[in-house]
Amino acid sequence: MAILEIKNLSFSYDKQKVLEDINLSVDEKDFLAIIGPNGGGKSTLLKLILGIHSLKMGSISIYDNKPSKQLSHIGYVPQNTNINTNFPIRVIDVVMMGHVDHHKNKKLPYWKKIFKVGYSKEDISCAMGSLAQVGMDKFAYQKIGSLSGGQRQRVMIARALCANPKILLLDEPTSSIDVDGQKQIYDLLKELNRSITIIVVSHDISVILKYATKVAHINKILTFHNVDFNTTIKPDGGHFCEVEMLQMLGNKVEHKKGCGC
Ligand SMILES: Nc1ncnc2c1ncn2[C@@H]1O[C@H](COP(=O)(O)OP(=O)(O)O)[C@@H](O)[C@H]1O
Ligand SMILES: [Mg+2]
Repeated sequence: MAILEIKNLSFSYDKQKVLEDINLSVDEKDFLAIIGPNGGGKSTLLKLILGIHSLKMGSISIYDNKPSKQLSHIGYVPQNTNINTNFPIRVIDVVMMGHVDHHKNKKLPYWKKIFKVGYSKEDISCAMGSLAQVGMDKFAYQKIGSLSGGQRQRVMIARALCANPKILLLDEPTSSIDVDGQKQIYDLLKELNRSITIIVVSHDISVILKYATKVAHINKILTFHNVDFNTTIKPDGGHFCEVEMLQMLGNKVEHKKGCGC
């Protein structure tokens, strides 16, 4: 069943057309990798799905509704979540930021609601649950600045999970993380994918080959591919291999012997 449906979507910033006639359908438990060159419109597409930018042409529906009505179903890990590592904030405080409206129905003094001071037991158990999901619960009361880049990114994922989303959007989540950290994050996403639909913007070819079930290449227009896990990728019956994937990502590559394309 399609939970996200994008139809004939075009988008411009002022006069610059960034996306043109995008059609995309995402099913429950898909692991969709969005690839493409810098400036191709990937982040813009995620922001449209999140309702951060208003639609000008075409439609996006999430569970048959407008994005703005379905925000509680979506978790988002934005691009370049560089935290000032000197800022004295704890891991649990960062995660709690994802617990949207967590004071909404509570009997708290007015000023506490405004300044969101004081966490309830439920708040803390929700944040600890999300941290446990990403294997970071034991760091809850440490300063965020004391963590490695990979650990910090797992905390950002926990923040997105705190709202208990059905769809998780991640914009280049491993761009400044070492190889081990990257693998841990993608293994984690694969695990989360058992119950959550994953949409991830990535430049990492190994991710696409190893984890994704669908690939969307975006460079203003979109080309869409289903992934076959038998070492190669086959779009609509044609053969599609790692070398071609690298070329789609804008890399110049030598033709590999035996790659079959
Ligand atoms: N808020 C904005 N205002 C104006 N132009 C923007 C804005 N955000 C992105 N752009 C432009 O839109 C194009 C697509 O950007 P983006 O969606 O960030 O691409 P990608 O994520 O694929 O690198 C780029 O040319 C970028 O400069
Ligand atoms: Mg981007």
